[in-house]
Amino acid sequence: MHGITKRFPGVVANHDIDITIRKGTVHALVGENGAGKSTLMKILYGMQKPDEGTITIDGEQATFHSPADAIARGIGMVHQHFMLADNLTVLENVVLGGEKLYGIGSKARNKIKEISEAYGLNVRPDALVENLGVADRQRVEIIKVLYRGARILILDEPTAVLVPQEVDALFANLRELKSEGLTVIFISHKLGEVLSVADDITVIRRGTTVGTADPANTTPKQLAELMVGSELPSPETRESTVTDVPMLRIENLQLNATDPDGAVREVLAGITLTIHKGEVLGIAGVEGNGQAELVEAIMGLRNPDGGVVTLDDTDISHAPTRKRRESGIGYIPEDRHRHGLLLEAPLWENRILGHVTEEPNSKRGLLDLKAARTDTERIVREYDVRTPGIEVTAASLSGGNQQKLIVGREMSHAPKLLIAAHPTRGVDVGAQAQIWDQIREARREGLAVLLISADLDELIGLSDTLRVMYRGRLVADADPATITPEELGSAMTGAASGHLEHAPEDEA
Ligand SMILES: Nc1ncnc2c1ncn2[C@@H]1O[C@H](COP(=O)(O)OP(=O)(O)OP(=O)(O)O)[C@@H](O)[C@H]1O
Ligand SMILES: [Mg+2]
Repeated sequence: MHGITKRFPGVVANHDIDITIRKGTVHALVGENGAGKSTLMKILYGMQKPDEGTITIDGEQATFHSPADAIARGIGMVHQHFMLADNLTVLENVVLGGEKLYGIGSKARNKIKEISEAYGLNVRPDALVENLGVADRQRVEIIKVLYRGARILILDEPTAVLVPQEVDALFANLRELKSEGLTVIFISHKLGEVLSVADDITVIRRGTTVGTADPANTTPKQLAELMVGSELPSPETRESTVTDVPMLRIENLQLNATDPDGAVREVLAGITLTIHKGEVLGIAGVEGNGQAELVEAIMGLRNPDGGVVTLDDTDISHAPTRKRRESGIGYIPEDRHRHGLLLEAPLWENRILGHVTEEPNSKRGLLDLKAARTDTERIVREYDVRTPGIEVTAASLSGGNQQKLIVGREMSHAPKLLIAAHPTRGVDVGAQAQIWDQIREARREGLAVLLISADLDELIGLSDTLRVMYRGRLVADADPATITPEELGSAMTGAASGHLEHAPEDEA
């Protein structure tokens, strides 16, 4: 791609980009939030038209008017935010829009099985996407692309939602693809991963390519400096601020679900935990082990089958969600598009969401739009949301900047309890440090935090207390001061119970 420039109203997203990608390699694209990575890839995938510049594939110049053109040239893209239809099966999702390739019946099914086996992707064609965890969804997105015959795969932050074991599995898949002569373009903010999987690295800053790095001779620290021009942050909590005043108490929380065949399954079984003022309680677990349901039960989005939830000495077990919000629960949801934003609404409207009845958004029962607008401007400033203004839609922000807006909104109501599900998902290393600081700062003032994260460094670094969740139960606890990400990672797969002791290497 040569001389690529793309302008949006008020923003130059890409400016004179030059990038060369070698066949049969994994090429990583790194850069801070809003640097222009996704935009560049959408141009390569025919979703956006560049204002200037040329694309050359295999020595031939290409012009794309739509993704269909790009697909025809062997390009496929797995997006930063999933694009699957939840209410369809894996097979239906893969076939959707590509019916002419192998039909919609047994030929299609066989093709999916064939691809799945060839690359060790392990997908079940008849599973409903709604019931799949994020790692499985990721694989469905990859199959969708391979099914269409892609030889160049674009993966936009594919690991943001995965826990370490799932990342390893994905990387094994990528190596497999590479050995078949496919080319992979990989975007990630996890610099350690980038260095381990990439053959080449291109750094983008403020919309333009600023350099390349050789993975063999670069440290994560150097890469971070290239990206944001600052040091790599660490999420370590230094001094403890934990008090003995309980803020959230959950006793014996029970949630059941009925499967389509009528069988009753325990989604949450006897969950008991206490988070004190000034305490961060981290929950470790492979996604899909009940974390999402636990959060939904605390938020009042699900009605538990038993148990008591107490916030600051008030029983909220059956309180409606708005009441819980008003009594001081902040919420950073795991899926910002599904539960965090109205993508087609302007930033200031998104700032009001979830806090309609609270100051400064409303006064004496009426919305105060002027105040909400002014406060949105403050959030944009204080949380470094890169945007041309507060009138643009949430959809036009880059993924990481959408996340920063949500964090800013939730921290702005001085919550007593913050439920933070993957608070820095998709956020660059610089902004990540800022969010960690904001959480630590509030914790010093007595904020209680329930932290769920797939990023084990974040989980260990920020938490005062760690619990491991497996199949709807809290099965083990660990001391964040001594546990290593490797030990925590293996505990999450279900082998562990009780208190996890750190085994020093010389004794092991
Ligand atoms: N459809 C759009 N309309 C207006 N502005 C846009 C649109 N898409 C992207 N932008 C702007 O272009 C810039 C680059 O965004 P892009 O999504 O490419 O960043 P990114 O590097 O992928 O960041 P992140 O790491 O946060 O995902 C941002 O300033 C963004 O606000
Ligand atoms: Mg992006």
